[in-house]
Amino acid sequence: MKDLGVGIIGTGWVSGEYIRAFEANPHTEVRGLVSRDRARAQAKAEAFHATHCHAYDRLEEMLADSSIQIVVICTPHNLHVEQGVAAAQAGKHLVLEKPVALDLEGLRKLQAAVRAAKVKTVVSFVLRWNPLFEMIKTFLADGLLGNLFLAEVDYFHGIGPWYGQYDWNIKKEIGGSSLLTAGCHAVDGLHWFVNSLPVEVCAYGNFSRQNPLHYEYEPNSMTLVKFADGAIGKIASSIECVQPYIFNVELFGDQGTVCNNQIFSKHWKGQKGWATFPTVLPDSGDVTHHPFSDEVRHFVECILTNRESHANLEDAAVTHEICFASELSAREGRPVKLPL
Ligand SMILES: NC(=O)c1ccc[n+]([C@@H]2O[C@H](COP(=O)([O-])OP(=O)(O)OC[C@H]3O[C@@H](n4cnc5c(N)ncnc54)[C@H](O)[C@@H]3O)[C@@H](O)[C@H]2O)c1
Repeated sequence: MKDLGVGIIGTGWVSGEYIRAFEANPHTEVRGLVSRDRARAQAKAEAFHATHCHAYDRLEEMLADSSIQIVVICTPHNLHVEQGVAAAQAGKHLVLEKPVALDLEGLRKLQAAVRAAKVKTVVSFVLRWNPLFEMIKTFLADGLLGNLFLAEVDYFHGIGPWYGQYDWNIKKEIGGSSLLTAGCHAVDGLHWFVNSLPVEVCAYGNFSRQNPLHYEYEPNSMTLVKFADGAIGKIASSIECVQPYIFNVELFGDQGTVCNNQIFSKHWKGQKGWATFPTVLPDSGDVTHHPFSDEVRHFVECILTNRESHANLEDAAVTHEICFASELSAREGRPVKLPL
């Protein structure tokens, strides 16, 4: 029997990646799967060969299982706070899918429950384990870019009826906003690379003229962020764009610049043009392309060595506050100071 048991809430698209990742990890196995329909949970466990997994149709029953130490929340966004609070109160460590909350009140509730329960968390800004992200963090740590003064990270992913989440994702009370539903990956990238606290946000949002995908909230937004160290960031996000998926990273420092997988640095004497480095770009919206197994490996190590993740709920709260401030700024037509 492995050291740690895992319970997963939600049996949709992303849940399969967690089953795979936790089953493959030498310290963990999936022991519970919750669906509103028990047979669906059973079928999912069988399809992914999770042989120690019990199917539940009630969350409370799974939370009562003391052989489960880690709970993964991968239901639609509007359920994350309630389920996260319940799991924290049951003493479970949490893998929280993004967005963790759709408003500040929900975020604070979740933070309070996690602090009170003293459980560990990781928020699935899974691109932090993407090889391009990892290489850029190494360049920054090695001083190749110097101090960043401008940064742009963009999320362009047309999410329409062909996409699994579409039916619930277009609804305001579930999807939230262009940033909350998915563009938060770009917001988190900006926060992670600039590595300074945001102090002010200014944003606009819109619909395309016909709103052909019937979004109940503005599916496009442009957000500017001022950081405490003086850096300025920009996030463009569109979930109704008509194009293949693009996730764009451009970072401008006083010693060099990164433009996706190209770099120019003053530190390399004689460099006369962009150097292209081989890596894996975050150029797909497909969950099978995302490094969930690396995120899971990291979180399991945090639990086993009793340390906090750099991508824990407290850190993700900063990313979420930028998203909330962006929505508020666009709605009220004014800059919004942070923290909220
Ligand atoms: N980090 C990432 O890169 C990434 C990628 C994909 C999805 N996600 C996130 O994961 C979450 C789920 O997305 P998905 O694409 O798997 O969606 P999905 O629609 O495929 O799956 C959602 C699942 O939740 C179930 N569900 C709904 N209400 C429930 C309830 N009350 N109790 C238990 N289960 C319930 C649904 O039946 C479905 O199985 C979303 O928050 C999404 O943002 C994150």
